[in-house]
Amino acid sequence: MTDEQKPTVLILYGGTGDLAKRMVLPAIYELFTRGLLPEKWKLVGNGRGDVSHEDFKGHIHESLEEFSDAPEPEQWKEFAANVLFAGGGFREDDPGSLLDVIEEAKQELGDEVEVIHYMAIPPQSFEATTKAIKEHGLNDGAKAVYEKPYGTSPQSFEELDTLVHTVFDEEQVYRIDHFLGKEATQNLHMLRFANDIFADTWNRDHVVEVQIDVPETLDVADRADFYDATGAALDMLVTHLFQVAAEVAMDPPESFDAEHLQAARESVIAQFRPLSPREVVLGQYQGYLETEGVPKDSTTDTFVAARLWIDSDRWQGVPFLLRTGKKMATKAQRVSLIFKKASGPLANTQCQPGVLSFDLSGTGAIEMEMTVKKPGPDFVPADANNVLELDTVSEGSMQPYTSLIHDVFAGDRSLFTSAPGLKSAFDAFAPLLGDERPDVQTYEDDSWGPEAAQVLPGQYGWLLNKRK
Ligand code: BG6
Repeated sequence: MTDEQKPTVLILYGGTGDLAKRMVLPAIYELFTRGLLPEKWKLVGNGRGDVSHEDFKGHIHESLEEFSDAPEPEQWKEFAANVLFAGGGFREDDPGSLLDVIEEAKQELGDEVEVIHYMAIPPQSFEATTKAIKEHGLNDGAKAVYEKPYGTSPQSFEELDTLVHTVFDEEQVYRIDHFLGKEATQNLHMLRFANDIFADTWNRDHVVEVQIDVPETLDVADRADFYDATGAALDMLVTHLFQVAAEVAMDPPESFDAEHLQAARESVIAQFRPLSPREVVLGQYQGYLETEGVPKDSTTDTFVAARLWIDSDRWQGVPFLLRTGKKMATKAQRVSLIFKKASGPLANTQCQPGVLSFDLSGTGAIEMEMTVKKPGPDFVPADANNVLELDTVSEGSMQPYTSLIHDVFAGDRSLFTSAPGLKSAFDAFAPLLGDERPDVQTYEDDSWGPEAAQVLPGQYGWLLNKRK
């Protein structure tokens, strides 16, 4: 990991924005406290406002207090000594104070610095900032981190990506999808490929259905503008849920090197059959139109459920049920593989199918539901389940952003989306964007979504609905 040792300047565009505050700044501080930043580094916040270095430090301190733990004073002093702010924005025709502040950073770090451009800005600003980076000669040898959504349609993805590739080589680009950075998502690989017991059953001969279910209880009151222009399908389906589906469905990569892991994910996304609008349900929670900032006639989806088919040898004929929504009955992030019922002498008992589930939230958990013998004199089956909380395995699990930003410093792109992978994702998603987009159905607040979505899965229904 030689990259990790290089003196580095991380420029955080949107440094005083919401995403920086909630996710990026706490993650950088966590890397610092764990001793995972390069030996010499500077963090340069950028934004339109005229914020002093000291004010920016104060802002970071507040972010940490609100979204992480209050920093320990000695550690904080050391961290804050590496923080700068460059105000006045950053445009093609006017770099604001950024170039001067980078020079200031170089005075301490030396000229041989690596630059990381972290774009924690609204997606509409990606193009302008990328062009400005080129115009001001900051692209050579740098890394560029883009938040999602990286494009909102096949066309806008293509346009943005073409522009990005006039400024950076693909190897310089890190497109973040934080679901790939979750501990439990990474455990999908470990469990499957390090345990033959699962490797051999991970296919259509044994699995009848896969569910990737991410209901949320939150509404969208604090981000109505962004949300109304985006909707659940773009915010979550073509991004997080597709990527997780690819993680589950991929064939074994040749190795866990970035190149092989990305290739395995990409090639299975290329086998996603374009969604059929008849197998997709869109919904909007009842109270949505009352939200401040949402137009009274908005048809934005706050819920999506889809049956996805993957045309690979491994998964032909096995439906992947994907669901997410705001203001639903419960909050969870769960991947479940439902196994075929037993054949042979116990085929006709009342046994439930075996289910292997991954809880992607927090520090993660793995759960196995299976049939055991009911204790007692008779040979009768009973359902049993066992949960393995991943934080009991070892301490030190990292937040998804911390893990991914660490990978950026280390130059490891394996958990970032690639351009061909995203292109395939948009191709599979495209039918939902045209005239055939399903009508949006209203659902009750705090419910499981529109009735029509209840019949999308097979005979076992949505597994989560039964857990509440
Ligand atoms: C974000 C979406 O990317 O992921 C949000 O924009 C969603 O709408 C969030 O709530 C879920 O992330 P987390 O951190 O709860 O796993």
